[in-house]
Amino acid sequence: MTTDSPTPPATMRASVLLPDRSLILEERPVPALDLDQVLVRVGAVGICGSDVHYYHEGRIGDFIVDAPMILGHEAGGVIAAVGSAVDPARIGSRVSIEPQRPGATSRETLEGNYNLDPEMEFYATPPIDGAFAEFAVIQSHFAHDIPEQVSDEAAALMEPLSVGIAAARKAQITAGSRVLIAGAGPIGVIIAQVARAYGALEIIISDLSEARREQALKFGATRALDPRTEDVTTLAVDAFIDASGAAPAITAGLRAVRPAGRVVLVGMGAPEISLPVSVIQNNELIVTGIFRYTNTWPLAIALVAAGRVDLDGLVTGRFGLEEVEEALGVSTRESSLKTMVYPGR
Ligand SMILES: NC(=O)c1ccc[n+]([C@@H]2O[C@H](COP(=O)([O-])OP(=O)(O)OC[C@H]3O[C@@H](n4cnc5c(N)ncnc54)[C@H](O)[C@@H]3O)[C@@H](O)[C@H]2O)c1
Repeated sequence: MTTDSPTPPATMRASVLLPDRSLILEERPVPALDLDQVLVRVGAVGICGSDVHYYHEGRIGDFIVDAPMILGHEAGGVIAAVGSAVDPARIGSRVSIEPQRPGATSRETLEGNYNLDPEMEFYATPPIDGAFAEFAVIQSHFAHDIPEQVSDEAAALMEPLSVGIAAARKAQITAGSRVLIAGAGPIGVIIAQVARAYGALEIIISDLSEARREQALKFGATRALDPRTEDVTTLAVDAFIDASGAAPAITAGLRAVRPAGRVVLVGMGAPEISLPVSVIQNNELIVTGIFRYTNTWPLAIALVAAGRVDLDGLVTGRFGLEEVEEALGVSTRESSLKTMVYPGR
């Protein structure tokens, strides 16, 4: 291992979720590096809904927190040390972490769909530790360099931006597109910004919350509607992206798409819902889900660096490592978009 000066310490502070769902601040050994990894001194970490789920429920589907685990997967920082196969010149670089470690040889990885690798190790998904800690490790090629004008917060939020880019690609949003997005949480708002950057002309967003609808108008949505009082099924949009996970939003959204249009299901709500099959058939809709992302970081960084997507403006709360519990609570408020944790603060 090659290190910066001063040498990283032997131990670090980490916020650890225990199987009984309590959070403790712990002094832990700084993780050792594989030869192709880098050690990142974490600057900022965004809180995602999945962190809140693990904290409250101790599980998401089949992933169960049955051993102590560090939450947090939206992270950026500075490279503090490198494994023996990594160029030491990387030490000191500011990076955004792509928080996944797919296997190298599966069919999915070789086909380019590395997000679907069955052996995937993903930050803050049991049993893999995340980034609510002073240091985190990642393969060198998934520590993406960021330019000077990109903030620590934005470096961290390249992760949810990547979800937005993956959704916009699947929806084939392009110049002139008309798009409906259900859900104006952080993911919906980021998708709206990506749609604007891709040249969409009409970006209609729906949410039950007035506060969230108002926020969305500041971030790229051209119209924000309340689905309880406005009918979306007459919109005939080119694409519908669900970022709510709500069954009524998905069934209405399917009916809001023009013939041969696209539907992308991003939101994770009830695992099974009933769908209007005849609407999908008669209109030859292309319906797909997304599971995170592949090859999105270069575009995400370029869009933010060029000022085409604003991630800094999404930050609504800032907390230290000893305040993770409070941060998780605040992050679910209607008025919150992105709550950040600063492990070095
Ligand atoms: N597929 C993936 O890879 C992936 C990645 C990240 C997040 N997600 C999922 O994306 C979703 C959005 O994430 P988020 O952090 O923005 O969540 P969030 O909970 O902050 O936002 C969801 C929004 O949907 C709104 N909503 C609820 N019912 C609605 C309805 N009937 N019509 C319109 N809006 C409605 C809520 O008021 C809320 O503002 C979550 O379900 C999350 O799990 C998926």
